Amino acid sequence: MQAVILVGGKGTRLRPITYHIPKALVPLRNEPFMSYMVKFLRSGGLDGAVLSMGYLPDPIQAYFAKRKDLDDFKIDYAVEDHPLGTAGGIKNAEKYLKGDPLVVVNGDVLSGLDLKEAIRTHQESGAFATITLTSVEDPTAYGLVEVDHEMLVHRFIEKPAYDEITTNLINAGVYVLEPGVLDMIPKGREVSIEREIFPRLQEQGKLRAYVSSAYWRDIGTPRSYLAASHDALSGAVGADENFEYLSVDDSTEVGKNVKILPPVSVAAGCRIGHRATIGGRSSLGYGCRIGEGAVVEGSILLDGAEVEAGAVVRGSIIGPGARVGQRAIVRGLSVLGAECVIGEGNILDQGIRVNPGVVLSPRSLSF
Ligand code: GTP
Repeated sequence: MQAVILVGGKGTRLRPITYHIPKALVPLRNEPFMSYMVKFLRSGGLDGAVLSMGYLPDPIQAYFAKRKDLDDFKIDYAVEDHPLGTAGGIKNAEKYLKGDPLVVVNGDVLSGLDLKEAIRTHQESGAFATITLTSVEDPTAYGLVEVDHEMLVHRFIEKPAYDEITTNLINAGVYVLEPGVLDMIPKGREVSIEREIFPRLQEQGKLRAYVSSAYWRDIGTPRSYLAASHDALSGAVGADENFEYLSVDDSTEVGKNVKILPPVSVAAGCRIGHRATIGGRSSLGYGCRIGEGAVVEGSILLDGAEVEAGAVVRGSIIGPGARVGQRAIVRGLSVLGAECVIGEGNILDQGIRVNPGVVLSPRSLSF
């Protein structure tokens, strides 16, 4: 069985990181996200996937070209010249599909779902299309999916107010589709599977649900990306025994359960650790440099990021090659783009986003 992985979106909610790195390749525990996706699809017994691409396809293709362990997992690439949406992207992949039932997955979903079981349920129920659902604590931020006692989908509710909440089940972004679903998708224009195809299937009584209580998260926002990174670091998902650790010298205070991958330089007296409120565990990419006495908590530092002496980074994402100057503070879900420079003494808080290459001049400190 083949999969279509939807990776053509612009990832606007994760900007400025996604100006340079497609969401499909943002790292979790220093492994590009697609590596988790391939593991997930292989766990379902799949033998190949078509990457449905549009935005920044080249780095994704380059990543797969470098992987030499995929002889038994065939990858094809269907590249759009303009965005075709989630259903249009599946249609555009049709030329690489063999006309069998297929799995479709949003390329930003980290899932512990039992994919084999979901496929089996789809086959045994004789469904035309099966949508997997997961439950969330705060359903107001999502589109909800109501099912009846026979697991037929009977209503979609877009971003409900509190008094409209009748379920906490949401679309988990993993589908099993009969090939006939592709015939419902018009060619060459933008089509959304969530807004156009699923409602039509639901009206026709052809859309079934598979509800899973397994681990699930998307990585589409800074908050959820930090949470997914924490989960990958803590082994809640994608555990890997070949994990490498770097020992840091005794003068460096590294928080409990912090894992640092080489080559990373950490100066004396730093605190690198966990933050319970936002961000969880920290992850430092290849070639990161942490200066003397700096603090990094609940954050992701991408490759080559630098936190200079006395600076503080909390609950934030620092883009590749970005530099946080001496005694600067970056916190509160702030996101720094590639190669930007936060001059000495600046304070960034409350989800500030700094575009790639921007240089903030030093500020004199009043404390
Ligand atoms: P935001 O701009 O932050 O909403 O991100 P996004 O558009 O990348 O992601 P969204 O959650 O809206 O889309 C779900 C999945 O579908 C993601 O994995 C996207 O990469 C993918 N996707 C979205 N739009 C397209 C498209 O036009 N073509 C293709 N092939 N994939 C798409």
